[in-house]
Amino acid sequence: MKSRMTRSVTDELYGQLIFSQASAGERHRLAALADVFDPVTIEQLSRLNIARSARCLEIGPGLGTLSRWMLDEGGAVSVTVLDRDTRLLTDLQGVEVIQADIRQYEFGAAQYDLIVARNVLVHLRDREAVIDVLVKHLAPGGWLLIGDLADFVTVDTPHTFWRASTAALWQVLRDRIGTEVQWAREFPTPLLNRGFEQVDVDINLPALRGGSALARFWQLTYGQLLEDLPHTGLVRREQVLEALAALRDPDFWDLSLGLLTMWGRKPDPQDGIRRYRGTTGRKVLQGSWRVHAPDAPFPWHVCAFHPGGVAMQANPQVADSEFIDSVSLGHWQETRDGHFLVYLNEIQCARADGRYVGSVEISMDIEVEQSRFSGTATTTYRDANGDSRTGGVTALTGFKVGTEW
Ligand SMILES: C[S@@+](CC[C@H](N)C(=O)[O-])C[C@H]1O[C@@H](n2cnc3c(N)ncnc32)[C@H](O)[C@@H]1O
Repeated sequence: MKSRMTRSVTDELYGQLIFSQASAGERHRLAALADVFDPVTIEQLSRLNIARSARCLEIGPGLGTLSRWMLDEGGAVSVTVLDRDTRLLTDLQGVEVIQADIRQYEFGAAQYDLIVARNVLVHLRDREAVIDVLVKHLAPGGWLLIGDLADFVTVDTPHTFWRASTAALWQVLRDRIGTEVQWAREFPTPLLNRGFEQVDVDINLPALRGGSALARFWQLTYGQLLEDLPHTGLVRREQVLEALAALRDPDFWDLSLGLLTMWGRKPDPQDGIRRYRGTTGRKVLQGSWRVHAPDAPFPWHVCAFHPGGVAMQANPQVADSEFIDSVSLGHWQETRDGHFLVYLNEIQCARADGRYVGSVEISMDIEVEQSRFSGTATTTYRDANGDSRTGGVTALTGFKVGTEW
């Protein structure tokens, strides 16, 4: 191998020269990429049910196959695509097409419920700034799904020509257009850093067999760069030719790039409030209540249900010398059918000497009707030794105290 040659770093952009859509093979290269990875991304979107979001945006759609699916089958109400070059987007009736560079585009007040960018950000030098823009135009509670290639297998491939060609490829792409092939290995940090919720990561690593769609993608990729790769000093021209021949040979098996995908949901400040306002807007539990439980050892309680889901209960045990007024803490939540579930843990100590008597686990199921609620409480008592006994089920009636919170 010749010694390493001088590297020249340029500010060329993806698609200007390398991967230009003006070149004859680019449609086939992108079609091969979509053939391999569309089933993966579609499965992720289907599993998460996130394409059912109303307004979807795809950045760098290539041939637009994913957007076509989102609109036709994914349940999207509207789909917008944005690409620097839109000449290959020929099958996108019903989709809004924006021809623009994502690094400079002004979305104005536009808000989307789902934004997808696959195999785009890895090629952009200012990818973090672009993510900030995407997050800004994601509606509260909206989903961001970013998939990018990652190479963590060619370092140990048994095929030297494949290892050398791939190392040269990443160097050429990094120096010319800014591709960072290891960027996706940071997933999901970009979403966690931005406070996203329900974050997850998935990896798909297809086998590379000569003659397959993935091999076709690589043939068209290496074919474009045949002259550039040997200049890196990392591979000889004969090795690149060897790789191109292997990619046509059905007996050639290896691995190549994996698709790492991360997704997450932008926090929605309204979440808590919506959750506790109730489904009808009429059944509101939030606030302070006097609660009557005729079958409980002490029939009157006071409960407070805080907007964030914290529940508190105190039992004023008037004139009882055995117990102190106990305090319970727990949480509450609304079910889909408008009931409220409350879980409390109560600690009991002897009033006379402060001795720990035991605890009570209480779960309530209640329905609110304006300033009254009714329901049941199920209790389990635990004595000072931790031995438990079921307390049974008690009817409950609640009376709202004071003004609404
Ligand atoms: C590798 S292709 C990925 C195509 C498709 N998303 C897929 O995964 O099959 C990259 C796409 O991003 C577009 N693209 C690259 N840089 C862009 C930029 N700065 N702004 C908008 N689109 C860009 C390209 O034109 C191309 O359609």
